[in-house]
Amino acid sequence: MTARRIGIITAGGDCPGMNAAVRAVVKSADRDRRIEVIGFRDGFAGLVNGDARPLGFDDVSGILVQGGTILGASNKDDPFSMRTDDAAGVRRVDRSGAVIDTLARHRIDELVVVGGDGSLRIAERFCRMGVRIVVVPKTIDNDVPGTDVTLGFDSARAIATEAVDRLHTTAASHHRVLVVEVMGRNAGWIALEAGIAGGADVILIPEITFDWDPVAAAIRDRVRRGRRFSIVVVAEGARCPDGGTVVRELVHESSEPIRLGGVGAVVTRALQARVPFEVRSVVLGHVQRGGPPTAFDRVLATRLGVAAIEALAEGESACMVAVRGDRVDRVPLSDLVGRTRTIDPAGVRVQAARRIGTIFGDRSNGHAAAA
Ligand code: F6P
Repeated sequence: MTARRIGIITAGGDCPGMNAAVRAVVKSADRDRRIEVIGFRDGFAGLVNGDARPLGFDDVSGILVQGGTILGASNKDDPFSMRTDDAAGVRRVDRSGAVIDTLARHRIDELVVVGGDGSLRIAERFCRMGVRIVVVPKTIDNDVPGTDVTLGFDSARAIATEAVDRLHTTAASHHRVLVVEVMGRNAGWIALEAGIAGGADVILIPEITFDWDPVAAAIRDRVRRGRRFSIVVVAEGARCPDGGTVVRELVHESSEPIRLGGVGAVVTRALQARVPFEVRSVVLGHVQRGGPPTAFDRVLATRLGVAAIEALAEGESACMVAVRGDRVDRVPLSDLVGRTRTIDPAGVRVQAARRIGTIFGDRSNGHAAAA
């Protein structure tokens, strides 16, 4: 009996735990002698270009603890809209046919896509063309619907929490306000959870509209209570007062053309004009995506990688393996496309933070409510 061949890509932005997922897929396939795994490099680009390598037991040995991905990743390439620069100029072309050719040439029966919401959308389009795919949800942003948590989030939250801890001591020593900008795109998961875990005084997230005055008043209030420093955690996707602007830049070379970032500097300037202490800012940036995964993410990656192979072995496809409580379920991709999992402003986390006096900068919970 000929072996089945499963292709795997790690698509979108990298995150801690991707390698652990690749390892789980390869090792569980390796134990079943009828499955071979072929890795394609740099996400969907590898499927367009046919850039492949076989992955066996030895290739994944020791990668459990390594950050990044041995396969390479890309959040620039959508095969349905690939940037092409040739004699005809720079344009976007549909290269999905090249992916189908690659899969046929390498005799790939089915694919595991380790990816976030953008990859999930692309995967769903290929499924409609007849490609058999199971998605393993990963992203530090934790914004993929249908799952309680995504691979990489716990590691990013741990890194951001440690940063807030470290900033506390220097902020306190110098009697400063420190504004920490964290990633997360249009969801405030990293800001909210690292903010709560690190004891931030103010947390600004995309899901809660804020204004400068409640934030400045809260900082002044802290000083009145003898706390001559404050920590403000702001999510990169937080919407600034005065029109709800998101600080962003357009990057035309990417199929993901909006790059968020810079709100920390805006918050810093606005607060500096309103409080009589030095306000400084720190952008955590890609530090949040680097380094080894936490134990939680290693376990999660192992469970999801194994579940992806199980799903394919049982004839399932066009689905995502999703954490639901203690179970791993299979959720149809068509139920997930176009949706984002954001924070419920009335949910338990925000409520608990408000109850201990954390400020979200909205008028409904100004500093007076927390005092
Ligand atoms: O989706 C993960 C993420 O790190 C976001 O939090 C962030 O906005 C984006 O990727 C940054 O992407 P890049 O590495 O292309 O700048």
